[in-house]
Amino acid sequence: MFMNPEEDTAVSRLSSATALEPGPAKLIERAFDVASHSYSPYSKFRVGAALRLTNGEIVTGTNVESASYGLTICAERVALVRAISEFGPEIRIGAVAIANLNGKASPPCGACRQMLSEFALPDASVVFPESDGMRVIPFHELLPLAFEMKPK
Ligand code: THU
Repeated sequence: MFMNPEEDTAVSRLSSATALEPGPAKLIERAFDVASHSYSPYSKFRVGAALRLTNGEIVTGTNVESASYGLTICAERVALVRAISEFGPEIRIGAVAIANLNGKASPPCGACRQMLSEFALPDASVVFPESDGMRVIPFHELLPLAFEMKPK
């Protein structure tokens, strides 16, 4: 699947997502939906992320930019901080879906991978758009050597 913005209709989203049935289709739909809330006047890149928690909840986030560019928060980290705020620090992430309304590849950035690593199960499915379609890989392949704080 790949979509350009002109094709960003409910029908094209659905047909793209159902190609990945039965697993992540619902999660991708939620990521697309929340991307429409993006505050991205600077990059105009509208991203959505949806986390499926092991408690069964789905928590979404969208990117929120700032005129002070470096303060921008990615969709994935917004979803993560929302999940922890709502359900507490014991949450575990069983699946992650990322989407954008620009029809571009959007694998999660390094900062988001690192932050997700403290909560994502190693085998959590991560679904994101590449240039030629949606890719699904386990979290441990997305960030094999995450930094871990191991105080003495
Ligand atoms: N962005 C995300 O939301 N997630 C990522 O993993 C990478 C980038 C956002 C940040 C910024 O608002 C826009 O995409 C362009 O970098």
